[in-house]
Amino acid sequence: MSTPTIPGIDAGTVTPVPIDGELVAGTEAIEVRAPYDGTLLGSVPALGAEEVDRAVAAAKKALHENPLPQWKRAEILDKAALLLAEREEEFARCIALEAAKPIRTARAEAQRAVSTLQFSAAVARTLAGEVVPMEASAAGMGKLAFILRVPVGVVGAIAPFNFPLNLVAHKLGPAIAAGCPVVLKPASQTPFSSILLARVLFEAGLPAGYLHVVTGGGSKVGNPIVDHEDIALITFTGSPEVGWGIRARAPRKRVGLELGNNAPLILEADGDWRTAVAKVKVAGFSHAGQSCISTQRLFVHESIADEVVSELAAAVRTIVVGDPLDEATDVSALINTGERDRVAGWVKEAAEQGATVAAGGEIGADGVLLPTLVDGATPDMKVCSQEVFGPVVAVIRYSDFDDALRQANDTRYGLQAGVFTSDITKGLRAARTLDFGGVVINEVPTFRADQQPYGGLRDSGNTKEGPAWSVREMTEERLIILNG
Ligand code: SIN
Repeated sequence: MSTPTIPGIDAGTVTPVPIDGELVAGTEAIEVRAPYDGTLLGSVPALGAEEVDRAVAAAKKALHENPLPQWKRAEILDKAALLLAEREEEFARCIALEAAKPIRTARAEAQRAVSTLQFSAAVARTLAGEVVPMEASAAGMGKLAFILRVPVGVVGAIAPFNFPLNLVAHKLGPAIAAGCPVVLKPASQTPFSSILLARVLFEAGLPAGYLHVVTGGGSKVGNPIVDHEDIALITFTGSPEVGWGIRARAPRKRVGLELGNNAPLILEADGDWRTAVAKVKVAGFSHAGQSCISTQRLFVHESIADEVVSELAAAVRTIVVGDPLDEATDVSALINTGERDRVAGWVKEAAEQGATVAAGGEIGADGVLLPTLVDGATPDMKVCSQEVFGPVVAVIRYSDFDDALRQANDTRYGLQAGVFTSDITKGLRAARTLDFGGVVINEVPTFRADQQPYGGLRDSGNTKEGPAWSVREMTEERLIILNG
């Protein structure tokens, strides 16, 4: 046996995945390599429709033959949260290696996953339907009615690479809280966080029929999940192109989409912009900008723009770039070199179109794209109009607050937006005007507490995640009427 690089994963063999209570190794495998330096971390089975069918059949059987009472769901989730907290360092190392997320940020993700499971447990414990006021009409006289919230059915979960643990916890935690078995497809680049999380959930008492991890490619595993008639709900996080494709492909299912964004932050001259600059140093570059709420479009009032750009550029140059396992590292590699080259190309194109690269813009000695600040950006440049999903912040200078609000809204995305101002009327105007799923005042839009509703409009998606909101989606409202 070779030395494991990820705790609990043997890099030299195929790591089998749990399906229908068995560990399945398959006949073909997909190698998983560290994005930072290409180290072989291990491999996972390359599965397909046959294994999806088996997983769904077992999930359906579990739902019908072994429904989980609410107290049991809560108990499993609480226990899993405890086990995860005990193994935080192992999970952090796994995330750091497979996603190139710097170890300190990876630890924060592991801690967040603990809280996601705890909040899911709390929802499981308190899940209840309403009483319907039947005697409010003559037709309802003599009747008592209430809602039972029952599991929607088997959930198909398709997860992204950027938060390989916590965004999976945001799918599994609520599904378990709702009483739904899950067929999970982890991102091909980052399957090990899901496999380790599944081990924790089984150890916490989750029956085998309630979770099946099917590794493999998008078309080989993702499509059979989306198409399967016994899957009631798909929860997907990823790109708008794939997400809306799933929506179109599965018109009769519930489909929850959490997609992209090009998050705007407006800095008014009356706001505490120095605090904002310090926050953007993290919010624009954490995990190399690979977060759907990474601060991307920075609208800065022209009266403070020179100072903001100069202070932010200086701050960005101090960001430590390198190996994700190094405690000092703030920013590491993008998920692959293709993505790195795409992002670098967009920065180059913006410069050719007249923007100034105020910091970064180059690929460093270890192949990592340096954190980049682009000044004088305009809405037509890709670094503004598209989701960069890379370590790039684009400054757009403006003279009028209402115009900044209008420009911030001028996007196909709508997940979260932020504004810094000390003027409460402007803050409220922003809250009413910014057409986003969440508006954050005197904070960066790169903000999420795991119990909050989180989801966007337009190309950013069609649903809200956060355990209380996801559980609503994952349960059916069954009306019960008692006569007499
Ligand atoms: C995302 O990329 O949508 C997740 C961001 C987060 O949970 O912080």
